[in-house]
Amino acid sequence: MPATEQTPTPINANKALWEKGDFTQIAASMRESGEALVATLGITPGVRVLDLGCGDGTTAVPAAQLGADVLGVDIASNLVAAGNARARSLGLDNLRFQEGDASDLNELEDDSFDVVISMFGAMFGPRPFDVAKEVVRVARPGGRIVMGNWIPGDPTLVAQILRISSAYSPPPPEGFVSPMTWGVEENVIERFGAAGVPEEKISFERDTYTFIFRGTPSALLSEFRTYYGPTMTAYEAAAASGREAELHSELDALFNEQNTSSSDDVTSIPATFLRVNVAV
Ligand SMILES: C[S@@+](CC[C@H](N)C(=O)[O-])C[C@H]1O[C@@H](n2cnc3c(N)ncnc32)[C@H](O)[C@@H]1O
Repeated sequence: MPATEQTPTPINANKALWEKGDFTQIAASMRESGEALVATLGITPGVRVLDLGCGDGTTAVPAAQLGADVLGVDIASNLVAAGNARARSLGLDNLRFQEGDASDLNELEDDSFDVVISMFGAMFGPRPFDVAKEVVRVARPGGRIVMGNWIPGDPTLVAQILRISSAYSPPPPEGFVSPMTWGVEENVIERFGAAGVPEEKISFERDTYTFIFRGTPSALLSEFRTYYGPTMTAYEAAAASGREAELHSELDALFNEQNTSSSDDVTSIPATFLRVNVAV
């Protein structure tokens, strides 16, 4: 190879998936639940919080508003930029965002956070055992980890979007571990166990995030179709196999069936997740 040619950098599919759309448009419908979740964490001024897979700060912003010293880490550069812009516009100088991968947090020191939050974030990182090891490494002894994970087979919105979408998508590459496996308690225990956390320090509860959107359920689906990487990818795959209309009709029925709002102007869809609490 001539000296001027360089080996191309391999594409990081995980990063590309989340940079593909604009998750801020979906996150806008999750703000109330993010704030409610953070209110349960007992955060006080000065607590050091890591929000991993933070998006544009649905939980990082309310944690900073409670006075915590917050670092948001996300693999998607567009979401890091959006988060930093939100922090600036809200005047939160105790909140900053930077790029990083939940599977390899080499830029973060051991024992540096009192609380690690990861709402539907770290579950998407490749190599789940590495994710658990990294999360435990950066949390200080005596600290806490709180994860929110969608649950496979759950009948509510997000698990169903991901189930329906996968039926229209090509099979994942060999060795790919589904993010949904983080929604199974035994897997969580095994992964944190391998990172040195005994089972009795892990507790689970079923909790709910409610997507609240000004518009119809079909308009909310349109937001997912236009801005949510996994749904965009499913529509592309379905179009390539001539099944786009079929996918759309399944998802449209799902969004409409799950809407609990009685107002024509507002869509409200609760989605169940597994909340994982780990005492480090
Ligand atoms: C469903 S969104 C949730 C975002 C945010 N926690 C919220 O509740 O609004 C998933 C987030 O995880 C991020 N993510 C995916 N894989 C990641 C990885 N390996 N490391 C860090 N962040 C990751 C995505 O970029 C995206 O922001």
